[in-house]
Amino acid sequence: MAWDLRGRNALVTGGAKRIGKAIATALAKEGANICIHYSSSESEAKEVKTVLECLGVKSWLLQADFDKNGYEGLIERAAEETGGIDILVNNASIFPQSTLRDMTLEGLSSNIRVNAWAPFVLMRDLARISESAKVVNLLDSRLSGYDWTHAEYILSKHLLAVVTKMAAVEYAPGLAINAVSPGLILPPPGKGMEYIERLKKTVPLKKRGSPEEIAAAAIYLLKSEFLAGEVIYVDGGRHLIEYDRGPHPD
Ligand SMILES: NC(=O)c1ccc[n+]([C@@H]2O[C@H](COP(=O)([O-])OP(=O)(O)OC[C@H]3O[C@@H](n4cnc5c(N)ncnc54)[C@H](OP(=O)(O)O)[C@@H]3O)[C@@H](O)[C@H]2O)c1
Repeated sequence: MAWDLRGRNALVTGGAKRIGKAIATALAKEGANICIHYSSSESEAKEVKTVLECLGVKSWLLQADFDKNGYEGLIERAAEETGGIDILVNNASIFPQSTLRDMTLEGLSSNIRVNAWAPFVLMRDLARISESAKVVNLLDSRLSGYDWTHAEYILSKHLLAVVTKMAAVEYAPGLAINAVSPGLILPPPGKGMEYIERLKKTVPLKKRGSPEEIAAAAIYLLKSEFLAGEVIYVDGGRHLIEYDRGPHPD
């Protein structure tokens, strides 16, 4: 029997836009109530809330900036609003450009704070108050290869990948923790679709994936009754090849 998502309460970080919005929508279509976390996208978050309520589920908004320790107490705030959190999707992240040449400790710290420390604190806090919850962390298919131009980001995602596996053991059986590693899905904020077109040749299936495919993998992991510490690469096979050897064409 699959874990029934109907009537569960989910917190989706960075749920106002893009992949987070697709995951929130897919969860709502499964009947889960959604607490949408956002940092700066208040109007988009309100729009998503309206759409989710039209799907017949409850929805709440929570603002928090993870770069300013906004993850502290977020699980408690979400639990108070909703009556209890059953599902956590750690989706929010930053993706700034940096190379090893120009990497700074401040930049690395900021990436770690938002992309790894915040998800970890949310998992740890959820483990303290829940005896039966599920978590999906968003990683990156570049973890299996290389990323010349996002050094601070990729290091922070490596940390999240390791913490995902550690937490999957440490917080079991109360939390079932798994991850999705997206490949080429959406251009980074500020870049157009030509970014995707240029990089499609690095994907064995020679195409990009959709946010809905990431959401479908997250739903699969959440419904599972027997997965822990698993990572699903949704990337057209990109993690199988060393696609980023040499300077990135950015
Ligand atoms: N896009 C891709 O092709 C791709 C590829 C590989 C991996 N991924 C991973 O998949 C996930 C979703 O990707 P995406 O491209 O949809 O993400 P995104 O648009 O770059 O970011 C998602 C959300 O993160 C929130 N966020 C940023 N800084 C924050 C902060 N300081 N505090 C709290 N929240 C903050 C933002 O919320 P506000 O808008 O409210 O500020 C943003 O909407 C990420 O974890 C990403 O690393 C994506």
